[in-house]
Amino acid sequence: MGDQNYTSIEELEKLTAEVNLELEHISDDAQAEAFRIKYLGKKGLLRSLLKSLKDLPEDHRRTFGARANQLRAEVEERFKAAPWKTAGMEQRDRSFDPTLPGLPIPSGSIHPLSKMQQEICDIFVSMGFEIAEGPEAETEYYNFTALNFPPHHPARDMQDTFFISDAALLRTHTSPVQIRVMEKGEPPIRCIMPGRVYRNEEINARSYCLFGQIEGLYVDENVSMADLKGTLLGFARRFFDEDTAIKIRPSFFPFTEPSIEIDIKCFLCKGEGCSVCKHSGWLEVLGAGMVHPNVLAAGGVVGDKYTGFAFGLGIDRLALLKYGIDDIRLFYENDMRFLRQF
Ligand code: PHE
Repeated sequence: MGDQNYTSIEELEKLTAEVNLELEHISDDAQAEAFRIKYLGKKGLLRSLLKSLKDLPEDHRRTFGARANQLRAEVEERFKAAPWKTAGMEQRDRSFDPTLPGLPIPSGSIHPLSKMQQEICDIFVSMGFEIAEGPEAETEYYNFTALNFPPHHPARDMQDTFFISDAALLRTHTSPVQIRVMEKGEPPIRCIMPGRVYRNEEINARSYCLFGQIEGLYVDENVSMADLKGTLLGFARRFFDEDTAIKIRPSFFPFTEPSIEIDIKCFLCKGEGCSVCKHSGWLEVLGAGMVHPNVLAAGGVVGDKYTGFAFGLGIDRLALLKYGIDDIRLFYENDMRFLRQF
């Protein structure tokens, strides 16, 4: 560089082409600096061109000088535009600023009933239960007949059940899934079956036409009432607190014999009596019992060696208690102000 003497217009045009090509190939700041020194600096080629003007014949000097000046101005301008800095962003929107913080993405929350169901299932799963599911639209056979409801049992009445047709209905409890699980598998069976159930009941603060249940079933050799009690006490201690107590009362369900209902010591007043437990100190939380032999038979579990226990608990009721909510309808209205609290 600098050794060569540019004197003709052709040489100048050749130089122009070379300079432009080099400028186009600059891809970073280091190359840009080298380019600047080579062509535009104090001792750069484009400046030294003008220095050689004095040696040129008078008539040629004017055209050559004008072209050399023009070349330098153009190159300086193109160089200042720093094309290598935006190369690669050509295709993109240049107004995009990747350093700005992102806009917040509005996120939903888990419905309190789903949360409750998840929490309950997690406890039973940790005890070795598996999760099973069944259809919400059931047949009369699975919902009633297989569960040992006598033909004219009042629960089959239109009052309680939403019938879809003569034989099809919306299940009134999750117990039909017991039959489906027994039909498919062999003992030992340890299953919990969460899901929605429907009842044709009056809608008020305490009851709704649909709600969530979790059914439990354990069928194996030598399953006894003591296993039922131990399992549910273990659950209550994990779900409520370590020193909660349970109370067992006799009850009746067609599909269990004997049948029981389980109350849990009120976790709010610790049994002292408060408005939530209606001053009894106890909360009714679930129905349970030893699986009726007719139900085992309907599920295809044969042989005298197998016995089982089953239980069914209401998710909505536990959620009302746990979150201190006084109106069950809030769970189904999907009012965002309510749901955002969970
Ligand atoms: N299916 C009963 C109900 O809906 C609850 C239950 C389940 C009772 C299993 C005993 C055994 O009320």
